[in-house]
Amino acid sequence: MYGWMKTNIAVLGAQWGDEGKGKIVDMLTPHFSAVARYQGGHNAGHTVYVNGKKFVLHLIPSGILHAGVTCLIGNGVVIDPQALFAEVEELARGGITVDGRLKISEKAHIILPYHRELDVLSEARRGERKIGTTSRGIGPAYEDKIGRRGIRVCDLLGDRTALADEVRENVSARNRMIIDSTLDWKPVFDQVVAFGERMRPWVDDVSLSLHTMMAEGKTVMFEGAQATLLDIDHGTYPFVTSSNASVGGVCTGLGVPPRAIGGVLGVAKAYTTRVGEGPLPTELSGALADRLRESGQEYGASTGRPRRCGWYDAVAVRYSVRINGLDALALTKLDVLDGLERIDICTAYRCGDRTLTEFPSDVAQLTQCEPVYESMPGWTTPTAGVRDFDRLPAAARAYIARLEEVSGVRAAIVSTGSERDDTILRDPSFQSSDFRVQI
Ligand code: IMP
Repeated sequence: MYGWMKTNIAVLGAQWGDEGKGKIVDMLTPHFSAVARYQGGHNAGHTVYVNGKKFVLHLIPSGILHAGVTCLIGNGVVIDPQALFAEVEELARGGITVDGRLKISEKAHIILPYHRELDVLSEARRGERKIGTTSRGIGPAYEDKIGRRGIRVCDLLGDRTALADEVRENVSARNRMIIDSTLDWKPVFDQVVAFGERMRPWVDDVSLSLHTMMAEGKTVMFEGAQATLLDIDHGTYPFVTSSNASVGGVCTGLGVPPRAIGGVLGVAKAYTTRVGEGPLPTELSGALADRLRESGQEYGASTGRPRRCGWYDAVAVRYSVRINGLDALALTKLDVLDGLERIDICTAYRCGDRTLTEFPSDVAQLTQCEPVYESMPGWTTPTAGVRDFDRLPAAARAYIARLEEVSGVRAAIVSTGSERDDTILRDPSFQSSDFRVQI
């Protein structure tokens, strides 16, 4: 029955996000019939360059850039209809049509027009303890989902009287949260009805479509947004996003069984970045941080915020390997390290008189941790654009080998630039049509 099971892979972030998942997903897409997003919302930002042309995708899987590939948005995703329409229009301007290829789960929850406002308000109320969210209304939409007052895509297309009741209930919950607020539910109702009508052609039973495709022998790539250390359960809580970005989210966010996942590819930068608040043990400051930020163009694809930069944290990646069962890493942005005299790798944390080799659960403890570093020599010959592992400078090869050792996983893909082809495929199986079985 599950003859298809080993042919699908999940691609997800192994650090704090922005690892370059978009490029990896885009590059691997030709091997798959479909790409399915399982969590998050338009807080994500995947930047993909194709023939020098830049595409920034937030909600729609970057697989949409490949003709003939079906792109699915699962029930685990929260959808801001206006952001979705804007993205569809942007793609159309770039000559890409989504009709017939975009499928949106009828069970996905809607980000309502005022969720964004609630996001901003909740951050303001937290004051110094703010999360540093993307202010896109993601958290409040998931809160409504878990609070069982959320509005789903199918609700927009069903019985209008029931929808009116649901909207009234949701708006009154919102009004209770904001002092002296008396938002009228009717304009919200009218707006969401219009959203539903516009989305109607794309609405689908995504779980069923995936099962049907897989039963026909078609293969699927499950695409994660954000990353493991931002996972609501396994990340640096409360400085996390509000969904399961790690591999468990694939099953709950798409309605597929665990056995559907034949392999898990973690995407990690050759250093570390984080945007928003919360602990980042290897964070650098001063000239070195600026150097990484500028050469890595470390500014948020969604919000433009400068990213915090630091050395590679093997404790965090090892944790990610454990949580997700990573089969391999795609190591990205190696070229950003070109020209550095020495490069540090964090292999453990020093916390008081203890040395921790496992990632701590308590964010207060993590904040007090000092990284334990190993120093490696850098390289002067550029790696930018190198496509053959043996052409990398010896010091870069040694750096990758050490990262693999301390992370406990092999780097099957190494990315050396933003274009699709600026990539080293180290495992020959990645180049063949059946690579997925061997990941
Ligand atoms: P939210 O997802 O907007 O609620 O933000 C929660 C945390 O996740 C904040 O620290 C954000 O900066 C972070 N975050 C959300 N989406 C991304 C992303 O795509 N890349 C990196 N960080 C993200």
